[in-house]
Formats: sequence, structure tokens, C-alpha cells
Amino acid sequence: MAVSVAGIALQNPVLCASGTFGYGVELEPLVRLDRLGGLVGKTVTAEPRRGNAPPRTFETPAGMLNSIGLENPGIESYCEEILPRLRGRAFRVFANVAGEDARSFARLVSRLDRAGGVDGIELNLSCPNVAGGLDFSTDARLAREVVAACRAETRVPLFAKLTPNVTDPAPIAVAAREGGADGLTCVNTVLGMAVDWRRRASRLSARHAGLSGPAIRPIALRVVDQVRRAVGGPILAAGGIATAEDALEFLVAGASAVQVGTASFVEITAPERVAADLPALLASAGVGDVNDLIGTLPKD
Ligand code: FUM
Repeated sequence: MAVSVAGIALQNPVLCASGTFGYGVELEPLVRLDRLGGLVGKTVTAEPRRGNAPPRTFETPAGMLNSIGLENPGIESYCEEILPRLRGRAFRVFANVAGEDARSFARLVSRLDRAGGVDGIELNLSCPNVAGGLDFSTDARLAREVVAACRAETRVPLFAKLTPNVTDPAPIAVAAREGGADGLTCVNTVLGMAVDWRRRASRLSARHAGLSGPAIRPIALRVVDQVRRAVGGPILAAGGIATAEDALEFLVAGASAVQVGTASFVEITAPERVAADLPALLASAGVGDVNDLIGTLPKD
């Protein structure tokens, strides 16, 4: 089950997705974290954030909307209190950061680099719930600028997390790779909305929100396919992955590893279950090594 993603050795290709699993440590009594390939923490910003006012989640058919607004304890708390608790474990640690511009992204990356103990850094270029958060992955010039500024601060592998909210993700993926990203995460949430017609009001205080869960899986798969054909890998796939079957679809389509996200809200052990189910499913298809399956979908 072991895979290598941008030089990061994972014991299996299943990670938890940012924003769906806290920082992992909170879930330790419930989940066997050491069975995961990796753990991607909730986005961290320079200062602590309380996020948007509630209500900020709403369940939808086959998914959920969220407008959390990047609630997090801030980079100092992350580096001082959380990272030390994640050291020396079987899973790999991915931090996820978001800034307001290229300089603030770079400062966050520089702080992580100094802290150590981070195997990969995901740059959240695609949060739809804060002002300007989406711009970094809808504007190729900005994507390149942010990634290049971060690249200058670290040798830790960088992953640019892309939005599906563009007509064509390929130019953004190209720009992120040109800026120095080692890999790409596809995808963040799809912009959506829910209305309570009786109250004549949006169901979320922020009005619009990000849709995740099985409803967006075909969209995520299509983006993985487009990005792979435009720039190749490595790609970390995210978007409605809830079973080992789902995971293998993304691996065949060119992802090197998958992130299980919204499924964890239904079943907190979903990432662990997906990882545990992979070997038997692969064996049932006569595949002994997951690497033999990755990217086997013909490109045309
Ligand atoms: O609002 C949030 O905290 C979600 C962030 C994201 O989708 O990147």
C-alpha cells in the first residue's frame, strides 16, 4: 500500500482532508491515526480566527455546505502546541495554511519551516468563505506569485490546493507548478447556497458556502483528469471520497493519494476504513501493489 508523493513516503495512499478532521490530535481517542497515510490539518492563518458567525454548516442531498471562515488557533499555537504532538508517528503530517497575500502566505510557510516536523505543506489557495480566498486559484498570475513566494521559504514539499470553481483548472495548475509547487490538491469545495424560503433567508450567515461530499465527486474526478493531462502529478485528490472504491477511481485517474473529508462527519473512522478496505479490494482485481494502478486511465 505504500506510495511516494513528491518524495513523501506514505504507508498507504489515504489521508484525511483539511478542515474535516481538526488537527488529528483531538480525535485520537476515537480514531487509530497511525493507520492513515497522512493527516492534513485544518487551515492555519497568521492570527487566531473565530470564523464566520453561525449557522455555518448545512446538510444537503449527498453532501454539506460549510462557511466556517477559517476558524483556527493561529500559526504560533499550531507550531507550539499541536505540531509537537504529531511528531514521530506512522502517518505523515501535512500543514495547511492560508494568507491574505503572497507575503503572508510566505511568512506562514517560513514559520512552519523553522518549526520542523511537517512533511508537506498544503497552500489553501481556494477557500470560498473568506474575502479574496478564492482569488489565489482563479487567477493564474496570483497562484504563481503565492506559490513562488512560499517556495523561496522552504524545501518542504508544497501542494497547491485548487478550486473547482473555474471554467478550466489547467492554467491555474500550470501556474502553480511554474511557481514551484511540488504537487496539487484537487479539489476544494464547490460554491453553493441553501435558502429557507419560509424565512426568506439564506440558511448560512455568510449567504454562500462551499459544497463538499459525494455530490461533488464527479466534479473532483473531472478536475483530477484535467490537471493530470495538463501538468501530470503528483495530485492529492479530494472531493466526496467515502469508500475504497471511490479512492481507486481517483488513483486510476491519476491521483497519487486521496483525502477523505466530508465522510468523516458521518463516520469519524471513515479515513481509517477506506485505508483498511484497500488491500482486499485491490486483491480482488488481482492488483498486488497499489502503485501498479495509479494513473492507469489512458489520457485520451
Ligand atoms: O471556511 C472554511 O474554513 C473552509 C475552508 C476551505 O474550504 O478552504
